[in-house]
Amino acid sequence: MKILVTGGLGFIGSHTVVELQNGGFEVVIIDNCSNSTPEVLKGITKVTGKEPIFEQFDLREKENVQDFFKRHDDIEGVIHFAASKAVGESVEKPLLYYENNIATLVYILQQLSAKSSSNFIFSSSCTVYGQADELPITENAPVKPAESPYGNTKQIGEEIIRDTCKVTPNLSAISLRYFNPVGAHPTAEIGELPIGVPQNLVPFITQTAIGLREQLSVFGDNYPTSDGTCIRDYIHVVDLAKAHVVALKRLLEKKNTSNYEVFNVGTGKGSTVLEVIQSFEKVSEQKLNYKVVGRREGDITAAYADTTKANNELGWKAKSSLDDSLSSAWKWEQKVRS
Ligand code: UD1
Repeated sequence: MKILVTGGLGFIGSHTVVELQNGGFEVVIIDNCSNSTPEVLKGITKVTGKEPIFEQFDLREKENVQDFFKRHDDIEGVIHFAASKAVGESVEKPLLYYENNIATLVYILQQLSAKSSSNFIFSSSCTVYGQADELPITENAPVKPAESPYGNTKQIGEEIIRDTCKVTPNLSAISLRYFNPVGAHPTAEIGELPIGVPQNLVPFITQTAIGLREQLSVFGDNYPTSDGTCIRDYIHVVDLAKAHVVALKRLLEKKNTSNYEVFNVGTGKGSTVLEVIQSFEKVSEQKLNYKVVGRREGDITAAYADTTKANNELGWKAKSSLDDSLSSAWKWEQKVRS
């Protein structure tokens, strides 16, 4: 059964391709390599022994999207990762984000709507909740006004899918709201490859430990949390990848209760920035050079998932611990720089 994975050479995309292939699916990847490299294909192939079909083009080219679906009319499901995700850049270049994240979504949904049956999984984010009033965060928590154009593209994306599903009974879709994906494949054949200075905590930690960055800045220690640093729900990317396969099967086997559903994908456990550093120091057996600095604008105090809905309805649960995640991220960093 053929599944399209857009952005399949990216961090979460590549791990999901591996899990799909391990689950017996035939995978076709579209990626423009704007934030990835064709080398990732080799890593995927090393892990699974199967090379996915790969087409390099930009989903903003509508004619190419139309042409692709004509050539691959046997695609039974689409997992749509391709998108830009840097919060700061989105503030600087809002139209780039609306074009990359919204226009491409519309072009794909136009193709899927025209099919007699189609299944779609969307990469959403816990960013849609902003600072939730109650923790852990359930799917019923209200969507808060977005803090950035990036966050807004996830909210608008979800609305576009919901509105389309309402009038398109043949289209079934699931939005997965990711918490903080970290780690790498245990084989260290694929992992996160940030271009330039990493914006996210874990790649910054591993790059500091390997000597690529001098020091990690901890953004604020005066938040109302146990040690004053922010709390997030760090989920191993392999667990997250598996959630996509489970969600896809739910659609293919028509186990969904409505043709548009939303699930949180996290571990359910919150960790502070200092706890992440401690865990990293433990698994890497070395001290990390870090310094507490001022808060980062736009950061929320705490976010972690209530995963009851995903556990009960998807039958999925994150298995890896924070230590496992950081250990795999460290193994990957060492391999990449060796
Ligand atoms: C960020 C985005 C989120 C997006 C996600 C995807 C913000 C406010 N949120 O999530 O919308 O979906 O990335 O990439 O930008 N930290 C440090 N030092 C660092 C980096 C991070 O102390 O050098 C802290 C942050 O203050 C935060 C935690 O580590 O408390 C996690 O940060 P990060 O990895 O950037 O993720 P989010 O901010 O949760």
